[in-house]
Amino acid sequence: MKRIAVLTSGGDAPGMNAAIRAVVRYGLDKGYEVLGVRQGYAGLIAGNFVTLGARDVGGIIQQGGTILGSARCPEFQAEEGRLKALRGLRQLNIEGLVVIGGNGSQTGAYALSQMDYPVVGVASTIDNDLHGSEITIGVDTALNIALEAIDRLKITASSHQRAFLVEVMGRDCGYLALAAAIAGGAEAVVIPERDLDEEAVATEVRTAYERGKAHAIVVVAEGARHNAESLHRYFQQNRHRLGFDLRVTTLGHVQRGGAPTAFDRLLATRLGAAATEQLAGGRHGVLVGLVKGQITMTPLAEVVGQKNPLDLSLLDLAAVLTK
Ligand code: F6P
Repeated sequence: MKRIAVLTSGGDAPGMNAAIRAVVRYGLDKGYEVLGVRQGYAGLIAGNFVTLGARDVGGIIQQGGTILGSARCPEFQAEEGRLKALRGLRQLNIEGLVVIGGNGSQTGAYALSQMDYPVVGVASTIDNDLHGSEITIGVDTALNIALEAIDRLKITASSHQRAFLVEVMGRDCGYLALAAAIAGGAEAVVIPERDLDEEAVATEVRTAYERGKAHAIVVVAEGARHNAESLHRYFQQNRHRLGFDLRVTTLGHVQRGGAPTAFDRLLATRLGAAATEQLAGGRHGVLVGLVKGQITMTPLAEVVGQKNPLDLSLLDLAAVLTK
């Protein structure tokens, strides 16, 4: 019997389980035995495999996280680790691997494919920074979690003349922050791609109150130079001059923990099935993503070392709509 394997790697993203489910059931339909690898590349090196049948992936489409577990694995960055993983795959006659994950994970997938092993990547990260997919698995859920927090903060913010700062994840990409700011109607947004210094943020807050607003929400990306910590310090030090306090909420890993939205379940299902179809058709060394609404394959060689560019015209739109 032909065998393939699937792993999830890097930061987990809501929808990974839906992708695993699609790989398993699509693979079974194509006549494959499908193995799951526990704990990402660490499990690949350790030979930590489990056979997955149709029933093993039942009831997981609505669950966040990943039933296979995930890990960041420095060992796999060294050739020795990769060779060990490759030996394990070959010993078990595993003919191909699906790697569900973001930038670091697809860099690992590319390294394996450079060693002549059939690998197909599935675009999955809440950061939405992966070249080869305009949206990745987990983004929609993480964004909705951030929005729920912003909507709630607005309620309490409207009761007090205070500024509220929400820090969202995204590593060094401002997508989640910008999208949350627009959809949440925030008064200011600070992202790595276009920084605002402390005084500029304070001005945005003050002018929002001057325009008669009942609240002032600032969304900050975790990777911004002027991050939540530096803004908080500045507002505290200048409290009397500015005339208002700043309260800080860091959403952190809460954004990764939600049940996947319908969008993420559908995206993950389509990408997982398409990745398996690629392997079954003898095509590999590609990332499966969504471009212009279509399932698209992008060579891993192009994916590695590139980032999804952020549409900065959205910042101008945000500035107009906050008036
Ligand atoms: O890449 C996903 C992500 O959640 C980033 O937004 C964040 O910077 C990072 O992972 C956090 O990593 P960890 O879960 O290892 O702390």
